Amino acid sequence: MSYNKKNVTQVDVKGKKVLLRCDFNVPQDKATGAITDDKRIRAALPTIQYLLDNGAAVIACSHLGKPKGEWKESLTLAPVAVRLSELLGKPVTFCKDIIGEDAHAKAAAVKPGEIILLENLRFDKREEKNDPEFAKELADMADLYVSDAFGTVHRAHASTAGVAAYLPAVSGFLIGKELDIMGKALEDPARPFVAILGGAKVSDKIAVIENLLTKVDKIIIGGGMAYTFAKAQGYEVGKSLLEADKVDFAKEMIERAKANGVEFLLPVDTVVGKEFAADTEAKTVAIDAIPADWMGLDIGEKTIALYENAIAGAGTVVWNGPMGVFEFDRFAEGTRAVARAVAASGAVSIVGGGDSAAAVEQLGFADKITHISTGGGASLEFLEGKQLPGVVCLQDA
Ligand code: 3PG
Repeated sequence: MSYNKKNVTQVDVKGKKVLLRCDFNVPQDKATGAITDDKRIRAALPTIQYLLDNGAAVIACSHLGKPKGEWKESLTLAPVAVRLSELLGKPVTFCKDIIGEDAHAKAAAVKPGEIILLENLRFDKREEKNDPEFAKELADMADLYVSDAFGTVHRAHASTAGVAAYLPAVSGFLIGKELDIMGKALEDPARPFVAILGGAKVSDKIAVIENLLTKVDKIIIGGGMAYTFAKAQGYEVGKSLLEADKVDFAKEMIERAKANGVEFLLPVDTVVGKEFAADTEAKTVAIDAIPADWMGLDIGEKTIALYENAIAGAGTVVWNGPMGVFEFDRFAEGTRAVARAVAASGAVSIVGGGDSAAAVEQLGFADKITHISTGGGASLEFLEGKQLPGVVCLQDA
């Protein structure tokens, strides 16, 4: 997959109607519907502003949540239109439908320098099916397709890939930035290249471990998945998370790392709790001494020291997944320490979206990280080395 895509500055946008796919899939307060984090809306502003300043009429679109093809009032993009308008300091005309009468009328009327926003694309089940007719109807409203929805490039949907069959397709600045930074890390990293992988399950990280084993100098393992690796080393893990069917895979990865000359760092101690609860009794034990009725919920202090040391001299760090149950304060120290070490390392640091991005932000280290991806699943699939449909469909530079 080429990372070098044609971008908005390399095509003529003046007087064009631009269908702009954004990822406005923002978290909302369940009770009030208020947007609780507008990072993804802010991340789209440079491209929107560029298009508006350069005489394009913008028809923005996005999904929100998983309405599964049904109209759900709780998942309308109307609040996003309001927030976007506040951030842009200009009106954003909201359409009551996607390719219906209202959208068509507003798309026909939108002038250069103006922006409209279509209703949630996933209110129509044809979006996720990448239905060619739905894609064509979306495309018919515009002269050019610009995608800036990095968080959604791993989805082959009508608005993320299908429309590119009917319109010239280029990238916005956000996709450009994500591809530049993460592409460089995978292709030509400053070394040593250290990958930190955490999170609950080995099964979510299989492809990423396999791909990174051919690229990095060190892999650091933490989070729930570390206990499957502990089992692979022959230790008992008590009530810790364990994927019994992934123990052989874990063994194989330890072996493969050895064969590839990759340092594979696993916890040497762990903070265990009696229950999965914020206020449960907790203590630190060696990794080969987890009591049968306790569960590992964070890495221990010896492991922290080991990992800090491995991160300190890194040239590039890629981090995906927390080291422990960081939402419970007494099991957050491993994640906190790793965040601190990454921030202090001076390395080119890339944090995948989702939980690790939330951890870095919550712990106050966001401004010390080179790049926090706006993609959760997308950044993971990128690190897996996969072909991303929303990237592949864009014209090469
Ligand atoms: C995300 O939040 O990771 C993206 O917006 C993709 O959302 P999805 O997992 O519902 O496709």
